Amino acid sequence: MDGNGRWATQRGLSRSDGHRQGAEALKKVIKECSQLGIKVVSVYAFSCENWSKRPKAEIKFLFSLITQFVKKEMKDYVKSGYRVRFSGDLSQLPKATQNAINKVIEASKNNDGLIVNIALNYGSRQEIVKAVNTILQSGIREIDEQMLEDCLYTAGLPELDLVVRSSGEKRLSNFMLWQCSYSELIFLDKYWPDFDEKTVEDILKEYSNRDRRFGGIS
Ligand code: FPP
Repeated sequence: MDGNGRWATQRGLSRSDGHRQGAEALKKVIKECSQLGIKVVSVYAFSCENWSKRPKAEIKFLFSLITQFVKKEMKDYVKSGYRVRFSGDLSQLPKATQNAINKVIEASKNNDGLIVNIALNYGSRQEIVKAVNTILQSGIREIDEQMLEDCLYTAGLPELDLVVRSSGEKRLSNFMLWQCSYSELIFLDKYWPDFDEKTVEDILKEYSNRDRRFGGIS
């Protein structure tokens, strides 16, 4: 969800205002995805690298915003039948965030609607190394793809059909590198806070014109 800061700067607002507006965009996008029958949406909210590369005050604000979102907005997600998951090392998060997250995971675990997966303190390389170590600890000396997938944060989720990056950046930045092997990629100049229902529809229109061959021929 890139571009909150630049969106705010363009308007003479603070970076916190940008993140707040980013949370509003997230609400719209998730609701639209559910209405359009999408099965899983993953969003990259905070990377392992973000800790050391952002001012402490911004990180503090972000986690209070995320915690509020989990407590308030996600209560409605549970009612709407969404299942909420998180990908990342949650043990490093503020205790209040961990508590709110654990509650919503538990409350939504039997829901069968849209799966909302929030990548938080997430890094794809870290995830793969962790998965390999989990397998090694069980004494297994040779792995296959399924074994590795079963130890990723995204275990049980389908691989990514589509990755969308906002704000004009054209890179993956350590996001689900294993899971996006065959994903379609869409890079938009639009900043994340400007994403809305129409953006989702436009993205899906573009996606439906892609010819996915998975190594085969048309
Ligand atoms: C990166 O862009 C954005 C983030 C690190 C934070 C994303 C968080 C939200 C959208 C808040 C809501 C999230 C949840 C899960 C409720 P940036 O803001 O650093 O953009 P910039 O590159 O323009 O500075």
